Amino acid sequence: MKIGFIGAGFIARFQAVAIEQVRGIEIAGLTRRRGSEALAAFCRERGLGEARIFDSIGALANHVDAIAIYVPNYARIEVMEQIVAAVQAGAALKGVILDKPLGRNMQEARRMVELARSANLRTAYFENQIHMRAIRTQREQLLPVMRSMGPLTLTRSAEEHGGPHEGWFWDPTRQGGGVLLDMGCHSIAVGRHVLTPPDKDLLFLKPVSVSAEVGLLKWGQPHWREQLLKTRGVDYAKTPAEDFATGMITYRNPETGQLVKAQFTDSWMFEKQGLRLFMDGMGPGYAFEVNTLISSLSIFIGDVAAQAIADQEAALEKATASRGLLAVQYNEADLYGYTDENRDMLQAFSAGRDAMLSWEYGLEIQRLVMASYLAAERGRTLDLTDPAVLAELETYVPAIQQGRGHDQLL
Ligand SMILES: NC(=O)c1ccc[n+]([C@@H]2O[C@H](COP(=O)([O-])OP(=O)(O)OC[C@H]3O[C@@H](n4cnc5c(N)ncnc54)[C@H](O)[C@@H]3O)[C@@H](O)[C@H]2O)c1
Repeated sequence: MKIGFIGAGFIARFQAVAIEQVRGIEIAGLTRRRGSEALAAFCRERGLGEARIFDSIGALANHVDAIAIYVPNYARIEVMEQIVAAVQAGAALKGVILDKPLGRNMQEARRMVELARSANLRTAYFENQIHMRAIRTQREQLLPVMRSMGPLTLTRSAEEHGGPHEGWFWDPTRQGGGVLLDMGCHSIAVGRHVLTPPDKDLLFLKPVSVSAEVGLLKWGQPHWREQLLKTRGVDYAKTPAEDFATGMITYRNPETGQLVKAQFTDSWMFEKQGLRLFMDGMGPGYAFEVNTLISSLSIFIGDVAAQAIADQEAALEKATASRGLLAVQYNEADLYGYTDENRDMLQAFSAGRDAMLSWEYGLEIQRLVMASYLAAERGRTLDLTDPAVLAELETYVPAIQQGRGHDQLL
């Protein structure tokens, strides 16, 4: 399958590394943008495909079977409108891929779904954590135990690091919020997935209620706020976003009525070695735990040797230290699930169907993220079975996203 990339930044490169591990996908083209020459050279060096650079989305669409949208959150709709225009003008695209989140709010997310359906495109919502082999393997391993003992009743999911790599992520109006949208969407999705019995549909569990809190614990402090303004051009004295979020979503099993809970915690103020994904789950008499900072490889670099370090991020995404005992993950693309989400998309699009996670699935996650913002803003638990709450979420735009997070966060 010939894939075209729109966007040539951080995730596009990570996905190229993942695709190197999947047979049958060729990175055939990219649109011209900051970073596209370097990414094209990387793809060609590694034999990942022709990686031809096109000046327009329309030209790219005529050269590939599927398009992956790897652009900032604020640019998704304009990009998708151009893809749809290309299909209407005759491009024979099979499907579109979008890395999380689907939009900044429900209205944007719905628009993305409508656009894809209007052009009869198959969709893949890339939520890598659901594809992590650690998550898939524990589910396969525990299925017989669940059948005899009953399902998991509690899960905790966390994604944490020291803060994003580009200014637009920090700006709540462009990104759509702070860490709750950026990384909470991962933890909320994987939490729901982990609690869902492996032999049931992805949306089997029915959301009952959500409570959440957000905070600006590090980057609102004067020293860090100034650093953020200097390095990222975003002023948290005026338009702050949350660097910490936590919450609890309760689900009901529609067959048994049993209530189960998924707790999420996400932060941009994590001071350990680098990115950590943590998930655990408790069932009656059994449990699992995933911690991506535990690797079979650790490296020690003492002070005298530290000058020789060229690139600390080679050890781990968002690495914060280049000496001492370093956690090293040598295949992060696979560890985090990027490899298997591409493999799933390839099989699905080749068979003419949506990926395991469609954009409609992404919409369900968007709703839970927006509900978490609303619960935090109101300071109370929301009833997710109340039609009035669900209706409100359709047009809700969090105050933080509107650039009015001052009262809530400072
Ligand atoms: N699944 C994950 O773990 C993960 C990790 C990082 C990012 N992401 C998601 O991927 C998306 C991109 O993030 P990133 O980190 O690569 O960002 P980035 O800023 O590193 O790269 C964005 C790329 O998009 C290009 N771009 C900007 N506006 C554009 C437009 N209007 N049209 C075409 N191209 C445009 C930029 O030139 C750049 O090449 C975000 O939505 C983010 O949420 C997901």
